[in-house]
Amino acid sequence: MPLNIEKIRSQFPALALEDDGVPRVYLDNPAGTQVPKQVLDRITNYMIRCNANHGGDFRTSVESDAILDEAHQAMADLLNAPSLNDIIFGANMTTLTFAMSRSIIRWFKPGDEIILSRMDHDANVAPWMQAAKDMDITVKWLPFNTESYQFDLNNLADLLSDKVRLVAVNYASNAIGTINDVKKITEMAHDAGALMYIDAVQYVPHSPTDVQDIGCDFLACSVYKFFGPHQGVLWGRSDLLEKLYAYRVRPAGAALPGKFETGTQSHEGQAGTLGALEYLAAVGETVADEYRDQLKGLSGRAGNLRAAMLAVKDYEKTLSWHLIKGLVEIPGVTVHGITDPDRMDERVPTVSFTKSGVSPETLSRALAAENIYVWHGDYYAVEVIDHLGLTESGGMLRVGAAHYNTTAEIDKLLDVVAEMQ
Ligand SMILES: Cc1ncc(COP(=O)(O)O)c(C=O)c1O
Repeated sequence: MPLNIEKIRSQFPALALEDDGVPRVYLDNPAGTQVPKQVLDRITNYMIRCNANHGGDFRTSVESDAILDEAHQAMADLLNAPSLNDIIFGANMTTLTFAMSRSIIRWFKPGDEIILSRMDHDANVAPWMQAAKDMDITVKWLPFNTESYQFDLNNLADLLSDKVRLVAVNYASNAIGTINDVKKITEMAHDAGALMYIDAVQYVPHSPTDVQDIGCDFLACSVYKFFGPHQGVLWGRSDLLEKLYAYRVRPAGAALPGKFETGTQSHEGQAGTLGALEYLAAVGETVADEYRDQLKGLSGRAGNLRAAMLAVKDYEKTLSWHLIKGLVEIPGVTVHGITDPDRMDERVPTVSFTKSGVSPETLSRALAAENIYVWHGDYYAVEVIDHLGLTESGGMLRVGAAHYNTTAEIDKLLDVVAEMQ
């Protein structure tokens, strides 16, 4: 196993914390991850040495702008985006998607159609529903199969027509953990003449992401899900971003990415993002040789980021299986997601389940009492919980591992789940 987990853990100050001698077990990662020292250093350094607004002639502003450019470039490296100008920072994925949906919907006319999915977080649903309502556009729904926990792409083929202008789906589900074949879905959307908007919030922390390989038009993610501060990032195809109308103040220029980065951004957040990517690139450097044949010719930071995410993916598969194997052995537990050991490649280590006779909330509280952090309910995946028929019974308990978690931590969780009656 190429990742040195002990060394990795030592770089995250929060992972060493204990309360009354009980270590904290962070399995709430799909809702937000802990940060390595590089993030703290970058933020502190920014606030002390170059805290200034954009575009000044003086030292702090010049240094600040250099850091912001570097953060955009580092994100472009992570996503294999062709240019740093196609990277748009914002408060979070939801806010960016509300803004983008407003801009994109202006291209459509009443009677046009968009396709949303029953597997998506509401951040990739509600913005589109509301924009569609305003413009008299019809929403069509792509279901997922409640046994395979996947989309049936025949359903997508049935929904697509020359009326469909946009398909918005997730790369990985924040509830059931399924990874979707977004490359194929993009191809189908494009063949029908539709745009493709991908919510990659739950995929980017777990695997390499390559917007050029996918061929999509837009892809959004959240930095705080991959070891950085609370920031959202949207990548868009530059020819589309250039043509899109941006709601902005008049003094803001029309150049990318600034036309969509309205107002003063969280500069310290972007500096922290750079720190998170420097951390990942440093991890990647330690394993790059092992993944040399999978780096697609990428070198420098882009190559190291890809190597890191390939190693993260390999390690996390072992966590997924350890967790799922333990859960399915506990009487009364139902895992709502892919459980086949040969299909661990098709899911992220976000595993949701129910236990008969114990509500997800009760389980969550019992785990919290042992300093083990998880979420229960719908985690804003309201369509998913509804589609699974679990709304009335309180949703599911969600356990979400990241690359700094260990099988020993998962065992602690399994012990509590097994004991609860
Ligand atoms: C799949 C998915 N999409 C979107 C979001 C919303 O992201 P943000 O908090 O950056 O708006 C989340 C947050 O949990 C998510 O899991």
